[in-house]
Amino acid sequence: MNELVLVLDFGGQYNQLIARRVRECNVYCEVKSYKTSVEEIRAMHPVGIIFTGGPNSVYDPASPACSAEIFSLGVPILGICYGAQLIAHLLGGQVRPAGKREYGKIDVSVQDQSALFEAMAPRQACWMSHTDQVFALPEGFSVTASTDSCPVAAFEDVQRRIYGVQFHPEVNHTQNGTQMLRHFLYRVCKVKGDWLMSRYAQQYIADIRRKIGDKRVLCALSGGVDSSVAAVMISKAVGKQLTCVFLDHGLLRKNEGDEVEEIFTKQFDLNFVRVNCADRFLARLAGVTDPERKRKIIGEEFIRVFEQEAKKIGAVDFLVQGTIYPDVIESGLGDAAVIKSHHNVGGLPDYVDFKEIIEPLRLLFKDEVRKLGTELGLAHDLVWRQPFPGPGLAVRVIGDITKQKLDILKDADAIFRQEIKAAGLDTSVNQYFAVITNMRSVGVMGDGRTYDYTIALRAVTTTDFMTADWAEIPYDILRTVSNRIVNEVAHVNRVVYDITSKPPATIEWE
Ligand code: XMP
Repeated sequence: MNELVLVLDFGGQYNQLIARRVRECNVYCEVKSYKTSVEEIRAMHPVGIIFTGGPNSVYDPASPACSAEIFSLGVPILGICYGAQLIAHLLGGQVRPAGKREYGKIDVSVQDQSALFEAMAPRQACWMSHTDQVFALPEGFSVTASTDSCPVAAFEDVQRRIYGVQFHPEVNHTQNGTQMLRHFLYRVCKVKGDWLMSRYAQQYIADIRRKIGDKRVLCALSGGVDSSVAAVMISKAVGKQLTCVFLDHGLLRKNEGDEVEEIFTKQFDLNFVRVNCADRFLARLAGVTDPERKRKIIGEEFIRVFEQEAKKIGAVDFLVQGTIYPDVIESGLGDAAVIKSHHNVGGLPDYVDFKEIIEPLRLLFKDEVRKLGTELGLAHDLVWRQPFPGPGLAVRVIGDITKQKLDILKDADAIFRQEIKAAGLDTSVNQYFAVITNMRSVGVMGDGRTYDYTIALRAVTTTDFMTADWAEIPYDILRTVSNRIVNEVAHVNRVVYDITSKPPATIEWE
């Protein structure tokens, strides 16, 4: 069993980031609600506990809090922002609103005698976001960092191994933030650092092989990162007992169906069923222009086709799902309504005759899924694939969907992707694709007048896909892309670049 660090969530917006940083330090951690009882925590045998930030005030009786009994477990604790204030509050210190809100990158004076800041320069740029602050420390604690307006920016009780920081070590703006967390883990909690993807893969494969035995497993493969890595994990465990059903609904990018087939038939040992159902999807979508209606039809049709294929295969014992840890965290911390929507992934379970779901990625963050994919031998391009919406190109064809418009879009999109990659921008631009607008306009080609489609290019930089900036792609690359598209793709005579951020726009056009 891995060493476990518990991230106790008090509602902060960076709670998942804290967990990811801990994992980056090769330490396994789980995010649990602040409501988790001390008995439950004791039973988990954590080697360290981190209290996250949160938007509340600790002196408000309705605010999230844990029992002060947690300090008697003898497990090292690090409180971050609200978490730090909560430590001070629960142990008899004083927390009050500060004169003014401290927000942004702030210079913090740190004492390098503290284990957290060992070997660091006396001044550190740290990310702050707080209105309350600690004014008086509980007994046994001493101050280890301060700013001009926050005299207690970090504190510790070395004896009891309890630490608090007012700033956010988990965000990138805190210069040595990961190093501070690493110090807490390795110097205070004394972890060995046993969380490695290679070990996880080996262990999981051995365990799941035992669990599956000689039974049969079914997986709906989309060709995306999560379902691909999940499928490969299971194929490594039980080979041809796994059947992967891949629906090629014609809404994938250029050549994508063939690429997925090539990888899964040549590189891995499993039963691969490709269902070519583009005509069927196109027929159902004919004349439909409303984006929500398109999504609905695709979802329904997907289930119908999958159901038919599943019937051909017959009853299976296990169904693979590519659920990843962020979904699990949200389900666990949220209310019942949220849980339902999260677990109802595509509605598949209702339509397939199976006994149990297996989720090989349930404990992993997206970046860990990618690491694991690489570990298992999946191609770099697949592992680093940009996000692709479930309804595929349907939401990038504005207006009704026809074979002609889809083909134009696939060709234009392929050119855009090629050029972004050739320019080395494919790692810095987080998502980039073409859209075929429903607009046609007049152009001139040779001596002739044209009346053809406008292609829009969309490229964004983002970390969470909740907000995004349009990417500043150099003009010469845009020029090459535009020239190539109008010259190589018939029925396009105009290319425009989308320069709206999200919000107010969304990343996809539909
Ligand atoms: P928007 O357009 O809402 O997209 O800014 C945010 C991110 O989500 C992707 N996206 C989807 N992913 N099913 C998905 O699995 C969908 O229906 C869907 N719609 C949008 C989008 O590509 C972007 O990365």
